Amino acid sequence: MDWGLRNRLSRILNPQDGKGVMLAVDHGYFLGPTEKLEDPKKTIKPLLIYADSLMLTRGILRTCVESNANIPIVLRVSGGTSILGEDLSKEAITTSIEEAIKLNASCLAMSIFVGSKYEHQTLSNLSKLIDEGEKYGIPVLAVTAVGKEMARDARYLALSCRIAAELGAHLVKTYYCENFEKVVEGCPVPVIIAGGKKLPEKDALNLTFNAIRDGASGVDMGRNIWQSDHPIEMIRAVRAIVHDKLTVEESMNTFFLNKDMRSNELETLKTR
Ligand code: 5RP
Repeated sequence: MDWGLRNRLSRILNPQDGKGVMLAVDHGYFLGPTEKLEDPKKTIKPLLIYADSLMLTRGILRTCVESNANIPIVLRVSGGTSILGEDLSKEAITTSIEEAIKLNASCLAMSIFVGSKYEHQTLSNLSKLIDEGEKYGIPVLAVTAVGKEMARDARYLALSCRIAAELGAHLVKTYYCENFEKVVEGCPVPVIIAGGKKLPEKDALNLTFNAIRDGASGVDMGRNIWQSDHPIEMIRAVRAIVHDKLTVEESMNTFFLNKDMRSNELETLKTR
């Protein structure tokens, strides 16, 4: 692995502990204006300082993130489908490597759909993207997407993660599941987890804790952060588990403490 690629990867996963908190805001690429991400600029801005990296498409990067933002960018470069379309797995590469370089991307991200109708297309796109990224020292995150009819179990997720790693992905994103340690064991590159649908805060922190305990290198989390009524407190609590090894109870305490402090601050501001 060349120096540039290792350097970029070290901006995604902190070399001190090998862990990272990636804030995912790419949902609109097939879902449109997702709840609480209708105005991405407003959602992203207050959370940026707590994230290690930011995952998004070029359109949202250009329009909703200040160009002087000091945050490594994980650029989603696959898409071309929508929830209304024929088949979500029919993704193409939507952003060129030249464009990714111009946008100063630290990592490229694309979805693979193992077991779907377009499995071959997405896997060969992944291989090509890795070849392109490696020419310029840019790592690739493979997102193991799951179709409605596919089981999110360790057997299936381990299959998807291992295939992504075999094709050369530098980092893999998947879902937490029972026997998650088997998924991690079978994957020679770091595995991070998506948060999935919005859960009560404690459940999302539990998911984060279990994933880290079972070998995940971090999270690529979206809805469980910005769909919370307290997104700042939530991302801070997630960070506390990922980087500071807090338990779920301890991180819930920081969540409530930060929430109370913020509401006191807001009250003080109102009375001024
Ligand atoms: C969508 C994605 C999302 O970035 C990923 O699912 C993480 O977001 P969430 O925590 O909301 O699931 O890749 O395809």
